[in-house]
Amino acid sequence: MAKNLYIETYGCQMNVADSEVVASVLTDKGFKVTNDINTASLILINTCSIRENAEKRIWNRLKAIRHLKKKNKGLIVGLIGCMAERLREEVLEKEQLVDIVVGPDAYRELPLLIDEAESGHKAVNVLLSREETYADISPVRMDQNGVSSFVSIMRGCNNMCAYCVVPYVRGAERSREPESVLREVRQLFESGYREVTLLGQNVDSYRWENNGSLIDFPQLLERVAQVNPLMRVRFSTSHPKDISDDLLMTISRHENICRHIHLPAQSGSTRILKLMNREYTREWYMDRINTIRNIIPGCAVSTDMISGFCTETDEDHQASLSLMEWAGFDFAYMFKYSERPGTKAAKKLKDDVPDDVKTARLNEVISLQNRLSGKSKRNDIGKVFEVLVEGFSKRSGDFLSGRTSQNKIVVFPKENKRKGDYVKVFIERCTSATLIGTIAAY
Ligand code: SAH
Ligand code: SF4
Ligand code: F3S
Repeated sequence: MAKNLYIETYGCQMNVADSEVVASVLTDKGFKVTNDINTASLILINTCSIRENAEKRIWNRLKAIRHLKKKNKGLIVGLIGCMAERLREEVLEKEQLVDIVVGPDAYRELPLLIDEAESGHKAVNVLLSREETYADISPVRMDQNGVSSFVSIMRGCNNMCAYCVVPYVRGAERSREPESVLREVRQLFESGYREVTLLGQNVDSYRWENNGSLIDFPQLLERVAQVNPLMRVRFSTSHPKDISDDLLMTISRHENICRHIHLPAQSGSTRILKLMNREYTREWYMDRINTIRNIIPGCAVSTDMISGFCTETDEDHQASLSLMEWAGFDFAYMFKYSERPGTKAAKKLKDDVPDDVKTARLNEVISLQNRLSGKSKRNDIGKVFEVLVEGFSKRSGDFLSGRTSQNKIVVFPKENKRKGDYVKVFIERCTSATLIGTIAAY
């Protein structure tokens, strides 16, 4: 039977990058990546544990896939990624839904585990590692536009935010050897890519020591930016406690480092931030935003917000709203607090905000952000931005779609431009999600 691999990816950009590592490990062993689940001999579901809903969705998906196993006896189904460690027993024993379970640090073992599963044994490896960074593996780029791509620069997290499951499911923080990062970025550029996003849970704590010399994140970022001025560089995620002036100065020195910083606040209340173990105050966060605006004029800032964390009062919630208003975020990911088993909050704090209150607060946060995002886009009308073209617009082949350095989506009539081009676009109007313009006269 043909060895066809189908991978479905849930969760964050790290998982997208990891699926590409998995595809690389398996294509080296003779697998071919397919986009058609019905032709697959191996289905891998790369999972996310961040909120209860994320896990529920994946359970439902696994149940839906069960009928394929009935039709195709040789089919192997594997659960990989962040749910693997937490749920291996449940998945393998109770539900009989999957044949293999592989955690995020054990992907090199996949060929071996697949062999085991093929001979009829359930195969599991969920060991977390202190060293694994997959530095030497060249990811197989999947489902991408051929213009922008992710490069993982570190794995795991040491931050122990009280609500967060990531340190438990992904293990301790470790940085990837810088030369391998640069090699990957150069290869991407040579294959036609024009934008790279460097990924880590807290990129500001990137560090690589070798023979007494240290490379920190600003230095790595600078070297990546120097690969080619036509390669745009983004990074995610920064932690407000660690983002340094040195980093901001580095961004300001390089035009190809994008004018956008994702700086998750989580809450605007110092009391809640303390309970969350975020290690900064509201004032500290505001100072970081002021410094960003001083050093990098025109820089977009986005955030993550959590509504209804343990003990959150209406006053705390108002503090989150007022911080958002003050900062004027260009974009935000907004969530309702979801207790995760094993985390510090689950062990020590009561999940005591009623669900309807969480929902009402989240809705207020979302409607405020809708207003702020609208304002941020309307501010761009009448200005010219350099747009990196990612492809055709969803609606029409006569229009191209791309992004500004600030990460806003722009649609414009294509004329003679194409994917991968940098185009100066004059912004004429906007919808709720998109800036609309025309090619600017040079
Ligand atoms: N490392 C990044 C974010 C990783 S998780 C950082 O520190 O910002 C992405 C986002 O999911 C978080 O920023 C947070 O807003 C949200 N999140 C994490 N755990 C959550 C939980 N238990 N309930 C609700 N949202 C959560
Ligand atoms: Fe989770 Fe905090 Fe680490 Fe982000 S920094 S992954 S929120 S523990
Ligand atoms: Fe990402 Fe979800 Fe894992 S957010 S790190 S895929 S728990």
